Amino acid sequence: MNSHAPLQNRNILLGVTGGIAAYKSAELLRLLRKRGATVRVVMTQSAQQFMGPLTFQALSGHQVYTSLFESELGDGMGHIELARWADLLIVAPATADFMARHCHGRADDLLVAICRATDASQMVAPAMNQQMWLDAATQQNVAQLQQQGIRLVGPNQGSQACGESGPGRMVEPEQLVEAVEAQFESGLLQGEHLLITAGPTREPLDPVRFLTNRSSGKMGFAIARAAVDAGAKVTLIAGPVALETPTHVHRVDVEQAEEMADAVTSHLADATLFIATAAVADYRPAEVAGEKIKKGATELQLKLVRNRDILAEVAAQPNPPFTVGFAAETERLRDFAQKKRQQKQIDLIAANRVGQPGTGFDADENTLSLFWEGGEKNLEQTSKQQLARQLITVIAERMDEKSRAEDS
Ligand SMILES: Cc1cc2nc3c(=O)[nH]c(=O)nc-3n(C[C@H](O)[C@H](O)[C@H](O)COP(=O)(O)O)c2cc1C
Repeated sequence: MNSHAPLQNRNILLGVTGGIAAYKSAELLRLLRKRGATVRVVMTQSAQQFMGPLTFQALSGHQVYTSLFESELGDGMGHIELARWADLLIVAPATADFMARHCHGRADDLLVAICRATDASQMVAPAMNQQMWLDAATQQNVAQLQQQGIRLVGPNQGSQACGESGPGRMVEPEQLVEAVEAQFESGLLQGEHLLITAGPTREPLDPVRFLTNRSSGKMGFAIARAAVDAGAKVTLIAGPVALETPTHVHRVDVEQAEEMADAVTSHLADATLFIATAAVADYRPAEVAGEKIKKGATELQLKLVRNRDILAEVAAQPNPPFTVGFAAETERLRDFAQKKRQQKQIDLIAANRVGQPGTGFDADENTLSLFWEGGEKNLEQTSKQQLARQLITVIAERMDEKSRAEDS
């Protein structure tokens, strides 16, 4: 599915800034839609000097967003909603001025505010006079954007609208579409089938009460999305979470740990990669009361019994998929993580310290320490979506390494 239509049903936010090349963005929009993407357009004030919003409105089939303050008056999409909606943000053309504001973290118009608020991949296609492009400040700003993980497409060399010739022409719409497609299809996990668990489980005590934990499922959903972008077929077994299913992901909802274990078993056959991000309850109440437990004595004893260990079961299969576990620890991260990896015989473990402000359960950011046989790598604090992409890259490298070791 991915290899043939990587843009099918993708949400692409097209940012248009104030340069001559803005007229080419209309063609870019048309081509993106032709490939199946849903496109919404944000224009800066200057961009509207070059092109009318009506053109983009007609071509996209959606209202065009032009102001940080008025955008909420239209179809209810404010800058945060647009930032969340986007699977990818491409700014084409990107002016020198826009890049200067973006790389310095400004948020004083709708487009740069969205750049701040989104965790989608970002691409910029600069377009400007060659002297503007070669200017030292522009070059510094471009380098800084790249350091921030923003992908630069172009500019090309050639004749310019101003009559000069040199670097600064915007990359042609057809090539921009190819770059966008490539972004969704890194191919790192092409041909792989990822089975992933996410979220908490609920272990019922009686018809109205349950034992659960603080997992939000955000990390697992972010990994599912990054794996689709890397070309994998993805099945996501989700505990009770309030998250939207990422595009192209097959989702199976479960509640209890034993249901999660059953769902994993029944989807395991064609999985080549298993990632266990779910915070699965280790224990469940031995008995579930048929009626609501009434308040009575001053003490109530709960008897708990062990649930199946999903991760260990998967790793113990005769022909297991590449298996990745998660460990949330409050102390001695490396020791506990390595011990868990060795005991359960899993290929890679991603450990994070919980109980720190701003990261871990339910937070939007996280840090991860990865451990495998003979190696480790720290992924610095960043959004869970960025972290998910970095994790997928490491997993793909390790899978590659493992299959080469097995072949030799
Ligand atoms: C006719 C004309 C053409 C322009 N073309 C470009 C251009 O191709 N690239 C660029 O970086 N700036 C160009 N500018 C300057 C930008 O429009 C100006 O820096 C503006 O502040 C950009 O605002 P924005 O980045 O918010 O869209 C041009 C200005 C004019 C008057």
